[in-house]
Amino acid sequence: MTIVISAINGKGGAGKTTALMNIAGEYALRGAAVAMLDMDGRSNLTKWWSDCHDKDAQPDGISVFGHKTAKSLDAFIQRHAQRFDYLLIDTPGEDISTIDPVIGWSDLVISPIQPSKREVLGAIDCFQSIIRINEAGAGTCRHGVLRTRISLTVRQTELYRKIRPIIEDKVGTYLFRTEVMERNVYKDIQNGTGTLQMQTLSPAVVKARRETQEIVSEIDALLSHAEEEHAS
Ligand SMILES: Nc1ncnc2c1ncn2[C@@H]1O[C@H](COP(=O)(O)OP(=O)(O)O)[C@@H](O)[C@H]1O
Ligand SMILES: [Mg+2]
Repeated sequence: MTIVISAINGKGGAGKTTALMNIAGEYALRGAAVAMLDMDGRSNLTKWWSDCHDKDAQPDGISVFGHKTAKSLDAFIQRHAQRFDYLLIDTPGEDISTIDPVIGWSDLVISPIQPSKREVLGAIDCFQSIIRINEAGAGTCRHGVLRTRISLTVRQTELYRKIRPIIEDKVGTYLFRTEVMERNVYKDIQNGTGTLQMQTLSPAVVKARRETQEIVSEIDALLSHAEEEHAS
Protein backbone atom coordinates (compact mmCIF):
# COMPACT_ATOMS: atom_id res chain seq x y z
CA MET A 1 0.00 0.00 0.00
CA THR A 2 1.19 3.46 -0.87
CA ILE A 3 1.59 5.74 2.13
CA VAL A 4 0.38 9.30 1.54
CA ILE A 5 1.86 12.12 3.63
CA SER A 6 1.01 15.76 3.04
CA ALA A 7 2.26 19.05 4.46
CA ILE A 8 -0.53 21.53 5.19
CA ASN A 9 -0.70 24.84 6.97
CA GLY A 10 -3.09 27.29 5.37
CA LYS A 11 -1.60 30.16 7.35
CA GLY A 12 2.08 29.72 7.08
CA GLY A 13 5.27 29.46 5.13
CA ALA A 14 7.42 27.90 7.77
CA GLY A 15 8.80 24.87 6.09
CA LYS A 16 6.26 22.64 4.34
CA THR A 17 8.35 22.20 1.22
CA THR A 18 11.61 21.89 3.14
CA ALA A 19 10.20 19.26 5.50
CA LEU A 20 8.86 17.16 2.62
CA MET A 21 12.13 17.35 0.71
CA ASN A 22 14.03 16.09 3.74
CA ILE A 23 11.54 13.32 4.46
CA ALA A 24 11.55 12.25 0.80
CA GLY A 25 15.34 12.09 0.84
CA GLU A 26 15.30 9.85 3.89
CA TYR A 27 12.80 7.38 2.48
CA ALA A 28 14.60 7.34 -0.87
CA LEU A 29 17.85 6.54 0.92
CA ARG A 30 16.14 3.50 2.43
CA GLY A 31 15.37 2.30 -1.08
CA ALA A 32 11.73 3.37 -1.23
CA ALA A 33 10.14 4.77 -4.40
CA VAL A 34 8.94 8.27 -3.54
CA ALA A 35 6.66 10.57 -5.54
CA MET A 36 6.38 14.24 -4.58
CA LEU A 37 3.34 16.16 -5.79
CA ASP A 38 3.57 19.93 -6.00
CA MET A 39 0.13 21.49 -5.51
CA ASP A 40 1.43 24.95 -4.70
CA GLY A 41 0.97 27.56 -7.44
CA ARG A 42 4.29 29.06 -6.45
CA SER A 43 5.86 25.79 -7.65
CA ASN A 44 8.83 25.89 -5.28
CA LEU A 45 9.14 22.13 -5.30
CA THR A 46 8.98 21.88 -9.09
CA LYS A 47 11.55 24.67 -9.40
CA TRP A 48 13.87 22.89 -6.99
CA TRP A 49 13.48 19.75 -9.04
CA SER A 50 14.39 21.43 -12.32
CA ASP A 51 17.34 23.19 -10.64
CA CYS A 52 18.50 19.78 -9.41
CA HIS A 53 18.20 18.53 -12.98
CA ASP A 54 20.34 21.43 -14.28
CA LYS A 55 23.00 20.67 -11.66
CA ASP A 56 22.82 16.93 -12.32
CA ALA A 57 21.73 16.50 -8.71
CA GLN A 58 18.35 14.78 -8.94
CA PRO A 59 18.24 12.12 -6.24
CA ASP A 60 17.60 8.46 -7.07
CA GLY A 61 14.26 7.13 -5.93
CA ILE A 62 12.38 10.45 -6.06
CA SER A 63 10.07 11.76 -8.80
CA VAL A 64 8.38 15.17 -8.69
CA PHE A 65 5.07 15.98 -10.38
CA GLY A 66 3.08 19.21 -10.59
CA HIS A 67 -0.66 18.96 -9.87
CA LYS A 68 -2.48 22.17 -9.31
CA THR A 69 -6.07 20.92 -9.11
CA ALA A 70 -7.90 18.36 -7.02
CA LYS A 71 -9.09 16.67 -10.20
CA SER A 72 -5.61 16.08 -11.57
CA LEU A 73 -4.50 14.90 -8.11
CA ASP A 74 -7.28 12.27 -8.07
CA ALA A 75 -6.39 11.12 -11.56
CA PHE A 76 -2.70 10.87 -10.71
CA ILE A 77 -3.30 8.89 -7.54
CA GLN A 78 -5.72 6.49 -9.19
CA ARG A 79 -3.42 5.89 -12.14
CA HIS A 80 0.08 6.01 -10.69
CA ALA A 81 0.12 5.80 -6.91
CA GLN A 82 0.69 2.04 -6.78
CA ARG A 83 4.10 2.52 -8.45
CA PHE A 84 5.32 4.33 -5.36
CA ASP A 85 5.87 3.42 -1.72
CA TYR A 86 5.33 7.02 -0.60
CA LEU A 87 3.39 9.96 -2.01
CA LEU A 88 4.34 13.28 -0.46
CA ILE A 89 1.96 16.14 -1.24
CA ASP A 90 3.09 19.76 -0.94
CA THR A 91 0.37 22.41 -0.64
CA PRO A 92 0.15 26.25 -0.72
CA GLY A 93 0.40 28.36 2.44
CA GLU A 94 -3.14 29.66 2.08
CA ASP A 95 -6.65 28.32 2.61
CA ILE A 96 -7.81 26.72 -0.59
CA SER A 97 -10.50 24.33 -1.75
CA THR A 98 -8.04 21.65 -2.88
CA ILE A 99 -7.07 20.94 0.73
CA ASP A 100 -10.05 18.70 1.51
CA PRO A 101 -9.26 16.13 -1.19
CA VAL A 102 -5.59 16.16 -0.16
CA ILE A 103 -6.60 15.33 3.41
CA GLY A 104 -8.99 12.71 2.06
CA TRP A 105 -6.10 10.86 0.40
CA SER A 106 -3.61 11.31 3.25
CA ASP A 107 -2.58 8.81 5.91
CA LEU A 108 -0.75 11.59 7.73
CA VAL A 109 -0.84 15.37 7.52
CA ILE A 110 2.09 17.33 8.91
CA SER A 111 1.54 20.99 9.81
CA PRO A 112 4.84 22.81 10.14
CA ILE A 113 4.76 25.85 12.40
CA GLN A 114 7.16 28.60 13.21
CA PRO A 115 6.32 29.93 16.62
CA SER A 116 3.86 32.57 15.47
CA LYS A 117 0.24 32.87 16.49
CA ARG A 118 -0.94 32.83 12.89
CA GLU A 119 0.85 29.59 12.08
CA VAL A 120 -0.31 27.87 15.27
CA LEU A 121 -3.87 28.83 14.32
CA GLY A 122 -3.28 27.47 10.81
CA ALA A 123 -2.20 24.12 12.26
CA ILE A 124 -5.31 24.01 14.48
CA ASP A 125 -7.55 24.78 11.48
CA CYS A 126 -5.90 21.95 9.61
CA PHE A 127 -6.50 19.51 12.48
CA GLN A 128 -10.17 20.52 12.60
CA SER A 129 -10.51 19.91 8.86
CA ILE A 130 -8.99 16.46 9.33
CA ILE A 131 -11.50 15.59 12.07
CA ARG A 132 -14.36 16.80 9.88
CA ILE A 133 -13.16 14.83 6.85
CA ASN A 134 -12.39 11.68 8.87
CA GLU A 135 -15.85 11.77 10.41
CA ALA A 136 -17.59 12.35 7.10
CA GLY A 137 -15.88 9.47 5.32
CA ALA A 138 -14.78 7.09 8.09
CA GLY A 139 -11.23 8.18 7.35
CA THR A 140 -8.19 7.51 9.53
CA CYS A 141 -5.93 10.40 8.58
CA ARG A 142 -3.49 11.32 11.34
CA HIS A 143 -2.09 14.73 12.15
CA GLY A 144 1.14 16.04 13.62
CA VAL A 145 2.46 19.53 14.29
CA LEU A 146 6.13 20.08 13.50
CA ARG A 147 8.04 22.99 15.01
CA THR A 148 10.42 24.49 12.45
CA ARG A 149 13.13 27.14 12.27
CA ILE A 150 13.72 26.87 16.00
CA SER A 151 16.66 28.69 17.58
CA LEU A 152 17.78 29.27 21.14
CA THR A 153 16.26 32.76 20.97
CA VAL A 154 12.93 31.41 19.78
CA ARG A 155 12.90 28.94 22.68
CA GLN A 156 12.88 31.88 25.07
CA THR A 157 9.65 33.32 23.73
CA GLU A 158 6.38 32.98 25.55
CA LEU A 159 4.57 31.62 22.52
CA TYR A 160 7.16 28.87 22.11
CA ARG A 161 6.52 27.68 25.67
CA LYS A 162 2.79 27.69 25.05
CA ILE A 163 2.95 25.49 21.96
CA ARG A 164 3.00 22.16 23.78
CA PRO A 165 0.10 22.91 26.16
CA ILE A 166 -1.95 24.37 23.32
CA ILE A 167 -1.32 21.64 20.75
CA GLU A 168 -1.30 18.61 23.05
CA ASP A 169 -3.63 19.51 25.91
CA LYS A 170 -6.07 22.00 24.49
CA VAL A 171 -6.31 20.94 20.86
CA GLY A 172 -5.41 17.30 21.41
CA THR A 173 -3.29 16.58 18.37
CA TYR A 174 0.23 15.19 18.11
CA LEU A 175 3.26 17.43 18.57
CA PHE A 176 6.45 16.04 17.06
CA ARG A 177 9.07 15.61 19.79
CA THR A 178 11.76 16.49 17.26
CA GLU A 179 12.07 20.13 16.25
CA VAL A 180 13.58 21.37 13.03
CA MET A 181 16.25 23.86 14.01
CA GLU A 182 17.12 26.98 12.02
CA ARG A 183 19.99 25.79 9.79
CA ASN A 184 21.59 27.19 6.67
CA VAL A 185 21.89 23.70 5.15
CA TYR A 186 18.10 23.61 4.80
CA LYS A 187 18.25 26.83 2.78
CA ASP A 188 21.21 25.67 0.70
CA ILE A 189 19.49 22.60 -0.67
CA GLN A 190 16.75 24.82 -2.14
CA ASN A 191 19.33 25.97 -4.69
CA GLY A 192 19.05 22.67 -6.49
CA THR A 193 21.87 20.69 -4.93
CA GLY A 194 19.75 17.60 -4.40
CA THR A 195 18.42 16.35 -1.08
CA LEU A 196 19.89 16.91 2.36
CA GLN A 197 21.01 13.28 2.23
CA MET A 198 23.21 14.03 -0.81
CA GLN A 199 25.18 16.83 0.88
CA THR A 200 28.76 16.35 2.02
CA LEU A 201 28.77 15.37 5.67
CA SER A 202 29.82 18.57 7.44
CA PRO A 203 29.01 18.83 11.17
CA ALA A 204 25.94 20.94 10.27
CA VAL A 205 24.71 18.36 7.76
CA VAL A 206 25.21 15.58 10.29
CA LYS A 207 22.97 17.43 12.75
CA ALA A 208 20.33 18.08 10.12
CA ARG A 209 20.42 14.45 9.03
CA ARG A 210 19.99 13.26 12.62
CA GLU A 211 17.05 15.62 13.08
CA THR A 212 15.45 14.33 9.88
CA GLN A 213 15.95 10.68 10.85
CA GLU A 214 14.25 11.34 14.17
CA ILE A 215 11.29 12.97 12.44
CA VAL A 216 10.97 10.00 10.08
CA SER A 217 11.07 7.61 13.07
CA GLU A 218 8.21 9.55 14.61
CA ILE A 219 6.30 9.37 11.32
CA ASP A 220 6.85 5.61 11.15
CA ALA A 221 5.59 5.23 14.72
CA LEU A 222 2.50 7.35 14.02
CA LEU A 223 1.68 5.34 10.91
CA SER A 224 2.23 1.91 12.47
CA HIS A 225 0.01 2.96 15.35
CA ALA A 226 -2.68 3.91 12.83
CA GLU A 227 -2.39 0.47 11.21
CA GLU A 228 -2.86 -1.32 14.54
CA GLU A 229 -5.97 0.70 15.23
CA HIS A 230 -7.24 -0.03 11.77
CA ALA A 231 -6.72 -3.79 12.22
CA SER A 232 -8.41 -4.01 15.63
N1 LIG B 1 14.76 24.81 9.42
C1 LIG B 1 15.06 25.81 8.58
N2 LIG B 1 16.18 26.53 8.74
C2 LIG B 1 16.47 27.56 7.92
N3 LIG B 1 15.71 27.94 6.91
C3 LIG B 1 14.57 27.27 6.69
C4 LIG B 1 14.18 26.16 7.50
N4 LIG B 1 12.99 25.68 7.04
C5 LIG B 1 12.66 26.45 6.00
N5 LIG B 1 13.61 27.40 5.78
C6 LIG B 1 13.57 28.47 4.75
O1 LIG B 1 12.37 29.21 4.94
C7 LIG B 1 11.76 29.49 3.71
C8 LIG B 1 10.35 28.89 3.71
O2 LIG B 1 10.47 27.49 3.79
P1 LIG B 1 9.56 26.54 2.88
O3 LIG B 1 9.96 25.14 3.16
O4 LIG B 1 9.63 26.97 1.45
O5 LIG B 1 8.14 26.86 3.52
P2 LIG B 1 6.69 26.65 2.91
O6 LIG B 1 6.78 25.55 1.90
O7 LIG B 1 5.87 26.29 4.08
O8 LIG B 1 6.31 27.96 2.30
C9 LIG B 1 12.68 28.93 2.63
O9 LIG B 1 13.51 29.94 2.17
C10 LIG B 1 13.50 27.88 3.37
O10 LIG B 1 14.77 27.72 2.81
MG1 LIG C 1 6.20 25.54 -0.08
